[in-house]
Amino acid sequence: MINQLQKEIIKLKKEKNAIILSHNYQPGEIQEIADFIGDSLELCIKAAQIKDKDLVVFCGVDFMAETAFILNPDKKIVIPDANAECPMAHMLPAEEVRKAKKVYPDAAVVLYVNTLAEAKAEADVLCTSANALKVVESLKEDTILFGPDRNLAWFVSQHTDKEIIPIPEKGHCYVHKMFNPADILILKEKYPDAEVLVHPECDPEVQEVGDHVLSTGGMLKQVQESSKDTFIIGTEVDMSTRIKRENPEKNPIPAFDEAICENMKLHTLEKVKNSLLNEEFIVSVPEDIASKALKAVEKMLKISG
Ligand code: 13P
Ligand code: SF4
Repeated sequence: MINQLQKEIIKLKKEKNAIILSHNYQPGEIQEIADFIGDSLELCIKAAQIKDKDLVVFCGVDFMAETAFILNPDKKIVIPDANAECPMAHMLPAEEVRKAKKVYPDAAVVLYVNTLAEAKAEADVLCTSANALKVVESLKEDTILFGPDRNLAWFVSQHTDKEIIPIPEKGHCYVHKMFNPADILILKEKYPDAEVLVHPECDPEVQEVGDHVLSTGGMLKQVQESSKDTFIIGTEVDMSTRIKRENPEKNPIPAFDEAICENMKLHTLEKVKNSLLNEEFIVSVPEDIASKALKAVEKMLKISG
């Protein structure tokens, strides 16, 4: 049942000719009022298609909203809480990418979309957890500078003959670091028929106990296509909220109940209403950086097909 505040948001959304985009990790009440919910790649693709809207409310973290701006520099993009940052995206300053490029001048630079715009501007191409391997394999170079997530870099290195050089030293996601194989094995004993789906931001030993290593969008698809009923979900807890809402006959079980991205949860219905009403908080990127970053985003979208 939609509550009063959600009704007000839906009304305001029409009045403002706005669209609400939400990442899969948003809480259920925000997913319910969103026009589109997706993983990082799906959100990029959706952002690239926005044509007839005056306002885009982005319920996700900073790097996602920045990417939406890079793809739509003429649109007003707002984020309900300006402090919703992805700590991993802040682990790779542009300067560190420039330094690595000097050390490996022949390497291609593939950066995870979880980077800030200044770092994106230094990349040859971006990737997400849904297309990282495809992007790397599409390049002619045999040596790839890859950052900032070391676990995603490890995942790619397991499936390619290319040399993957992770940057920076310790790039990681604090949420996906919370999973451990022992917890998953206990759940597997409890639910022997369950399929284990884990995100490539998890540590290698966690990925190794997964039946599938997938982006959040990939997890949703796998649940829908699999003949299994029960799934152990190795990513942020609200991914299970989305799976359950859209597939009530399936049984998603979070691999760890406390794997919560506090940064994503800064957005609330009150703040979404405020962002529609007052058209804040504005997301923008300086033009010179945005135009360089756009090339890397567009190259990724082209490779993704
Ligand atoms: P997805 O692209 O798989 O949704 O991942 C984004 C993210 O930030 C995971 O922590
Ligand atoms: Fe960033 Fe991790 Fe949160 Fe994803 S889950 S937005 S990588 S902190």
